[in-house]
Amino acid sequence: MTKVPEKFVDIFAGQDLHTIEAEVTLIDKVPRPTRGEAPIVIAGSFTRAAKEIALQKDLKIHAQKFIDSAERNRGWQPWNLASRNEVVQLGDRLSDDTVKVTRAFLYTELRIKDYVKAGLRFINDGMSRLAIGFRWAGDEVKHPQTYGDILVLSGKMTEAERLKMERDANLDPWDFRDHNGFDDEYGYGHIAFGIPQERLTAFYGRQLRKMVRADYSLADKRTNEEAERGYEIGASEHVKIISVDETAHQMAYIEQAGIVARYFPERMYDALVAVQEGFKMPLADRLPNRRRVLSRLMPDEDSRGVYFRTFDYISNSLGLENKEALAQAAQNSIVLKDMLEPGAFQLNPDGTFKPLNNLAEISLAL
Ligand SMILES: [Fe+2]
Ligand SMILES: [Fe+2]
Repeated sequence: MTKVPEKFVDIFAGQDLHTIEAEVTLIDKVPRPTRGEAPIVIAGSFTRAAKEIALQKDLKIHAQKFIDSAERNRGWQPWNLASRNEVVQLGDRLSDDTVKVTRAFLYTELRIKDYVKAGLRFINDGMSRLAIGFRWAGDEVKHPQTYGDILVLSGKMTEAERLKMERDANLDPWDFRDHNGFDDEYGYGHIAFGIPQERLTAFYGRQLRKMVRADYSLADKRTNEEAERGYEIGASEHVKIISVDETAHQMAYIEQAGIVARYFPERMYDALVAVQEGFKMPLADRLPNRRRVLSRLMPDEDSRGVYFRTFDYISNSLGLENKEALAQAAQNSIVLKDMLEPGAFQLNPDGTFKPLNNLAEISLAL
């Protein structure tokens, strides 16, 4: 008989559902830290099914928040942007470098189909991450359209060239296999990778916005006039609105990592460590005009420096002081998982864990 992959294993097989429910009730009693407080992880001999149920409950609340906020704040469409006419009027001003960087962004964002398709393979744990994934894809599909619009409306690309790029994307696809951290059976590598990828995409977007504004002879800060009317001038608005999406995505992935780490710290921290080893941005080595584009996006430092700052930020957002502490947390959580008694532990900034006071109560209640 062929072995069922871990991700498709029936976690309920041979188990009494009432007992599992009782465990979930108990897990629910372990406090959830509020923003800024140290993460708390569930440890010990709870069944996988109970932890998965508790995890899905948390993910559902997160998915609702993510989708509601997407509907409220990210409901724009490329064809409705008020800045479109100005993109046409100011098209001549876009510099050669700005055009090259925008083309490189378009090249990358055109692989969204590959990203979504490959990403769906990793989401097998329930509906909530799928719902987030589809809404996220709905945000992402607007990005290649918007970058293409900047180039075409500015007169820097013909419709023929644009369609050729769109069609060529099919011949030169991208896959997560080109990156570290995707061999985990649970698909948490997808979350771990999403954090730096989205954060850096937002960062690059902010750099491009500055370039556009310099071409328009404007300072980085939006003008009073832009603030008053509620959107930035021409392509500056187009680029800015995409970065807002990317930032929202980054924050969502961080939140998801925190939620998963509560129940399966040994998997989540491990996925984060694995992704950061040898990390590179999707298609970074295949970008058209790569050297010139990267030197414009990171004028002051190389990509390693930018990546390291990003990893530090990720550790900090998860309650850890640096990337070494993250590796510690990954190590230490293996011990927590193997504990015989059920319990709850608080994460210290250095990646060690301390038992919560109510540990004894939780153990007794089982
Ligand atoms: Fe995007
Ligand atoms: Fe994104």
